[in-house]
Amino acid sequence: MAKWIKITECENIPSMGSRVVQYGDIEIAIFKTRDDSIFAINNECPHKQGKLSEGLVHESVVTCPMHNWDIDLASGEVLGNDSGCTNVYESKIEAGIFYINI
Ligand code: FES
Repeated sequence: MAKWIKITECENIPSMGSRVVQYGDIEIAIFKTRDDSIFAINNECPHKQGKLSEGLVHESVVTCPMHNWDIDLASGEVLGNDSGCTNVYESKIEAGIFYINI
């Protein structure tokens, strides 16, 4: 069953940057890309738990600040020669407000 939670106004998320949301024990990184797409993904790299929110955003990818693995923001999949996956969250925008489905 869907449980949508309000995160913030989309304008509060910096372009090419992130915000971090705590939901219980889960830390979620919210990213906005150059084309204003917004993604919600666990704030934990599948390699050694680097904080993805501190990574570099390019296209729809974040590069982990720890060892430079590239993570696809839409799927949570590690790109390139490395492998792994982190959780992503379904999201929607209504009236300029960003929501995620927990
Ligand atoms: S912890 Fe992210 S690449 Fe190593």
